[in-house]
Amino acid sequence: MFSIANSMGLFGMNAFPVTVEAEVSRGHTQFDISGLPDAGIKESRDRVRSAVSSVHMPFPRGRVLVNLAPADVKKSGTSFDLAIFVALMQAMDVLPLRLPDSVFMGELGLNGILHGIRGVLTMTMLAKKSGYHEVYVPMENVKEASVIDGIKVYGIRNVNELLMHLLEQKCIEPAACYQPEITSSVTSMLDLCDVHGQLKARMGLELAAAGGHNILLVGSPGSGKSMLANRLPSILPEMSREEILETTNVYSVAGQLAKEHPLVTNRPFRSPHHTVSSAGLIGGGSIPAPGEVSLAHNGVLFLDELAEFDRSTLEILRQPLESREITISRAAGTAVYPCNIMLVAAMNPCPCGYYGSTQKKCTCSEKMVKQYLGKISGPLLDRFDMHVDVDPVAYDELASKEKAESSAVVRERVETARDRQKARFRGTKIYCNAMIPDHLLREYCHMEDSAEKLLRTVLEKYSLSARAYSRIQKVALSSADLKGHQQITREDIAMAAQFRGFESKYLR
Ligand SMILES: Nc1ncnc2c1ncn2[C@@H]1O[C@H](COP(=O)(O)OP(=O)(O)OP(=O)(O)O)[C@@H](O)[C@H]1O
Ligand SMILES: [Mg+2]
Ligand SMILES: [Zn+2]
Repeated sequence: MFSIANSMGLFGMNAFPVTVEAEVSRGHTQFDISGLPDAGIKESRDRVRSAVSSVHMPFPRGRVLVNLAPADVKKSGTSFDLAIFVALMQAMDVLPLRLPDSVFMGELGLNGILHGIRGVLTMTMLAKKSGYHEVYVPMENVKEASVIDGIKVYGIRNVNELLMHLLEQKCIEPAACYQPEITSSVTSMLDLCDVHGQLKARMGLELAAAGGHNILLVGSPGSGKSMLANRLPSILPEMSREEILETTNVYSVAGQLAKEHPLVTNRPFRSPHHTVSSAGLIGGGSIPAPGEVSLAHNGVLFLDELAEFDRSTLEILRQPLESREITISRAAGTAVYPCNIMLVAAMNPCPCGYYGSTQKKCTCSEKMVKQYLGKISGPLLDRFDMHVDVDPVAYDELASKEKAESSAVVRERVETARDRQKARFRGTKIYCNAMIPDHLLREYCHMEDSAEKLLRTVLEKYSLSARAYSRIQKVALSSADLKGHQQITREDIAMAAQFRGFESKYLR
């Protein structure tokens, strides 16, 4: 007896259709799975056996062969368990029907219970695109799958429930489509109104948020760098539906979605510890899983204490920061994960933390300072559009009872600036000023004559690099967007140039 059930596999961010074929024939009692399964799938034999006995059936005598087609694609994970069970039930004549319109995915536990799996959103999306009418998923993943409109989604607790449903003895209701009203909950975020003084750093943060610029905060211990960075999410624009789906997909594949709220509607803010491995940061594993950079997709990656990170780990970041995606190659194939992020980093300027401070004398030798700053390579430094010096605020300011401007007010200005960028970049793959490729600078950055003159003076005076030249223009454009004028003015250039001080202050 030969039977077929449909399932879905996952590699990286990509789902692919898998047909599970089962055959029971006479011969020695044995149960094999073919079709390039990995060790994990081979174990599924035991789980399927247990599921069969949970519905009080004897496991078929003779030779049971399960094939996962296409047989030339390597398969891993536990998501095929359910389809193997269904195919077997058909081969055993328990389920008389063919199920050409249904897709089954889920991991079996002992006693026929279903456990959640990764990537259900992506796989359901493909099921719909491929023209299937219904998907059967573990109850744990049902809300995630029901985000996809236009395909029936059934949440299953155990295989007995599924059998009763398919035999039409006790039907399960399909889940209602999950399309919540999308608003990010700004109220739960840390607010800029807690930060006293720090006008320049606040301006820097606002400018960075307005144009999506990578930003490096440098200053002495306790000056408020971490405090400022942690408040960045509260002034970033709301996520679009497209961004929400993209980021949710990454979390689905990583198996990190919240069961009850399976949509990522707040921009991610990831702050990995400086001991993070390179696989943890950019992704890895034999079946490559997304790393922190991809979990920060459409949001912020915050590297606090930048100089403490392993240098080689940081260097790996350079390429994905430019291309905004990560390619991980393995024997089993190549996975590509998105990482369109804003990079925010904070560091002290030297081991004691007070180099260049007006407040306290630095006790480090020149050599120590050089060595410390040398941990961050030139090319990585170049990835930051803006460097912000964070000086500690004076006591009077700190003790002041007056509340500073709140994040909501700043965020409104940022949203307006982003609206201008949306109009500017319509029809292109650019979302924000930080993403303008250098060869298009001329097209997008129109400067008044006096602005151009000032830019030339700044570059010559501080002998800044060609990279600095383009960074200043992009940041100046964000400044123009915040103020609402078409052309970059002298003031915009001055504003942008003051955030390029790192090289001249610390590296000479
Ligand atoms: N401008 C400010 N307004 C209000 N509180 C502040 C300000 N600056 C610093 N603080 C207080 O000082 C604490 C230390 O700040 P924070 O941890 O951000 O410093 P840091 O610059 O990250 O220091 P380190 O280099 O040691 O990491 C904050 O938690 C906050 O309570
Ligand atoms: Mg800190
Ligand atoms: Zn020092």
